[in-house]
Amino acid sequence: MTQSQDGKSPPAVARIVVVDDEEEMCRILARILAAEHYDVTTFSRPLEAIAHIRRTAPDLVLTDMRMPDATGMDVLRAAREANPFCGVVVMTAYGTIEGGVEAMRAGAHDYLTKPWKIDELLLTLAKALEASQLRRENLSLSETLRRQSEGSDLLGDSAPMRTVLETIRKVAPTDAAVLICGESGTGKELAARAIHKQSLRAAGRFVAINCASIPETLLESELFGHEKGAFTGADKQKLGLVELAHGGTLFLDEIGELPLTLQAKILRVLQEREIQRVGGTQTIPVDIRLVAATNRDLQKAIEAREFRADLFFRLNVITITLPPLRDRREDIPVLIAHFLARAGRKMHKPAVRIEPAALDALQCYSYPGNVRELENLIERMVVMCDGDVIRLEDVPLDLRTARQPVATSTRTQIPQPTEYKDAKDQFEREYLLRVIEAAGGNMTEAARLSGISRRHLYEKMERLGIKPTRPQ
Ligand SMILES: Nc1ncnc2c1ncn2[C@@H]1O[C@H](COP(=O)(O)OP(=O)(O)OP(=O)(O)O)[C@@H](O)[C@H]1O
Ligand SMILES: [Mg+2]
Repeated sequence: MTQSQDGKSPPAVARIVVVDDEEEMCRILARILAAEHYDVTTFSRPLEAIAHIRRTAPDLVLTDMRMPDATGMDVLRAAREANPFCGVVVMTAYGTIEGGVEAMRAGAHDYLTKPWKIDELLLTLAKALEASQLRRENLSLSETLRRQSEGSDLLGDSAPMRTVLETIRKVAPTDAAVLICGESGTGKELAARAIHKQSLRAAGRFVAINCASIPETLLESELFGHEKGAFTGADKQKLGLVELAHGGTLFLDEIGELPLTLQAKILRVLQEREIQRVGGTQTIPVDIRLVAATNRDLQKAIEAREFRADLFFRLNVITITLPPLRDRREDIPVLIAHFLARAGRKMHKPAVRIEPAALDALQCYSYPGNVRELENLIERMVVMCDGDVIRLEDVPLDLRTARQPVATSTRTQIPQPTEYKDAKDQFEREYLLRVIEAAGGNMTEAARLSGISRRHLYEKMERLGIKPTRPQ
């Protein structure tokens, strides 16, 4: 489910794995830790423990150092591989601290020498858990900050994108509901985030929910929360996403998939500015700004009685339509530069560039998956390219052959009106030039790409005055 909320989730019960070849020790530890409400699993055979750790990636491992079959160091390595944040505490039974020190060097958080006292044990484990939790939070915080600073800018300087950016700039500071339309991958969610970021609610939460990805039966309580005992399994009160978005922005993605009953409830939120939790009687005031997105034609959904007209009119106050990428090819180079830099950082290949022929090929493709498809493509090419340059050969072949004629001023336009034969020649010439370019000048490849025999290809080139670009 695509659902994000910028709040903190309550800490879950820590899962601890204990490894000690002495069964008695395992039993004692299990009792002590269970009494502290840890979720504890014990193993007296280290190899079994390692298999379990690999499968379940626990939060903390407490392991004996010297055991038959495998050592504490083996357990430590398995734990770190399974979960880089896993806390590891080792126990040494020999009164010596060498083993412990070695383990600390290898990344254990702490060590205990047997015999330990219970409060010493509990304190050591709590500290190790806290340290690993801190590392995890720091990492996810810096990840979030990085994403926020680099991910929420809608790039593009084409005329249709300028209109979009201008509309966002104007509507963001108002509290008006906004409906964002556009094909898949055109940047609807990014636009919704941009509206939030530029609004007076920027310090509040941006809560996103994808209406299509949650089963209808769960969606109501996801959105509106529930009271304890509202239904079987509702063992405590839960706040819904609408309530969590209080003071911020609620983003309903794929609103066209929202069931009719919930459409009525969302309409009520917009009109009355209040909600009721499932199973509750109290009305709770909420102050949210609604941004919705759809790639479905809502007018048609209204005709099919699948979408409420009154909700549509409420939402449709301001509509932003994100143009498909093929209608704004001028934006492709700047997007490529942006994704190259991003993928370069991610894949540790920061210097990757793209040669003009490859850029040209990418600019001619029609991108049914829009910006997301371009983003994935660049990432793939950064991974696959040898050295620091993406060449034409690195552009997937199916994409090169699926190139569409570019209707921008950079290409010769066919003058109108013209004789059929001249127009055909002009088209053929243009076409063959592209095929040869896509084949990197290799005529066998050009013949294969175009489905024209090599001999026929040479004849055509001769007639149209095209010279091979490289000796064959
Ligand atoms: N104008 C843009 N500038 C920079 N990045 C963009 C732009 N548009 C889209 N992207 C990137 O493309 C990807 C897809 O964008 P997003 O998820 O916003 O699209 P979407 O319209 O919500 O897609 P879907 O309909 O599939 O949910 C994201 O990684 C986003 O960062
Ligand atoms: Mg989306």
